[in-house]
Amino acid sequence: MEIKAVKEISEVSCEVLVIGMFEGEKTSQELVNKFVIEKDKFEGKLCTTYLLPTLGQGQFDKILVVGCGKREEFSANKLRSAISKAVKKLQQIKAKNVCFDFDVQEDFGKAAAIGAGIANYAFDKYKKDKADRIEKAYFTKFSQNSLDEGNVYASAMEFTRNLANEPAAYATPSKLAEIAQNLENVETKVFEKAEIEKMGMGAYLAVGQGSAQAPKFIHMKYCGQNPKKRIAIIGKGICFDSGGLDIKPASSMLTMKDDMSGAAAILGVMNALSKLRPEVEVHGIIAACENMPSGSSYKPGDILTAKNGKTIEVDNTDAEGRLTLADALCYACELNVDEVIDVATLTGACVVALGSTISGILGNSEELINELVNDGKENGEKFWPLPMDKDYFDSLKSSVADMKNTGSRMGGASIAGVFLKEFVTDNVKWAHLDIAGTAYIEKPHNEFISGSTGASVRTLLAHICK
Ligand code: BES
Ligand code: MG
Ligand code: ZN
Repeated sequence: MEIKAVKEISEVSCEVLVIGMFEGEKTSQELVNKFVIEKDKFEGKLCTTYLLPTLGQGQFDKILVVGCGKREEFSANKLRSAISKAVKKLQQIKAKNVCFDFDVQEDFGKAAAIGAGIANYAFDKYKKDKADRIEKAYFTKFSQNSLDEGNVYASAMEFTRNLANEPAAYATPSKLAEIAQNLENVETKVFEKAEIEKMGMGAYLAVGQGSAQAPKFIHMKYCGQNPKKRIAIIGKGICFDSGGLDIKPASSMLTMKDDMSGAAAILGVMNALSKLRPEVEVHGIIAACENMPSGSSYKPGDILTAKNGKTIEVDNTDAEGRLTLADALCYACELNVDEVIDVATLTGACVVALGSTISGILGNSEELINELVNDGKENGEKFWPLPMDKDYFDSLKSSVADMKNTGSRMGGASIAGVFLKEFVTDNVKWAHLDIAGTAYIEKPHNEFISGSTGASVRTLLAHICK
């Protein structure tokens, strides 16, 4: 979608004018005031809409009125929701060129472009009947700069959603590596199996060994001018999670092409950095592989040695994400970075705890966790801190190795957290985002259609670009 800032609505002529209306206020349009407010008593409650034909009066075919709620309670996030709602309506009436006019003082262009981008998304690559999308959106009141920034965020989310929505037959470890290698202004090194062996990543390699797809360890590096900070971001890249020999029931396996959503988020972020050009050094890391049952699969009872020398008894082959992340975390901690953030569709327990609109966040640094929670809040993503307590490690104790990969089902998201902590160097600030519930939704919700949501992309970008 092309997004353009204009000074006045008189500068554009397009199919629909979208006008924001605050509760208890009039709008700049006489037609709206006369018919919508006075006659039909439209109140302007947040995200309610009213479609008004203009019958040839003025330069627009239709006016779509969108409620903004109370002016004193208005915020960037509310504007984003209102714009998303409007875009959904505009798609229903097949509008292509539209102009948004919201009477606000602050430059909410970033939120506006993100809201429009999220709602305008469809995954119709494999369908003959293509979705209706807006092609061109004009915005009054907002600067081109902030609209452009939001558009980069929205494109990053689109990139991530497209990749995570792809079937596992397409989005293989090799495909992720190929995509990483083609990113602009990003240096990429892909480690093949022999090199991964040499690095001593025995936990990660075990997960991938049952698959016909070769594992690919991907290290991307973006370096802005005079970097003020060094950050490593890691994405869980299980291109398909069948559970392995501890195979999942069919209904749980159905959506497991999404188990590389963390990796897709990292690729979306790395792709956007070359456009946003922040003064930071960012390492994007993905230990990509598939978790499959076969004669060469890793087995319950196997004892694996991770890159930092710690040994792990395989208690359940379906707890594979933490094994791949273990080695990726060791690798990231050796990069001499200030902070490490991993993003993973890690536990069903997190989905049970928080549902599909809030992600879990854990880590060793309250400061980093608080920052990320706030970065999320400011950009419309929710994270809720879950506890990290040494007691959770009790159920990971093994009689034959330093730890097991799973323990009690109770408190599963926290148990996974304390497992990961074993592979993080103490002096590195680390946060773990569990997006198992939020990355991929089975039913449409708010501004999102079913499928991938691009969870964590906005938050990571905001955090990196601060
Ligand atoms: N990829 C799954 C977690 C998941 C569940 C993601 C639901 C998205 C939706 C992960 O690899 C997994 O299988 N976890 C197990 C761990 C268990 C064996 C300790 C789980 O959560 O059931
Ligand atoms: Mg699993
Ligand atoms: Zn998994």
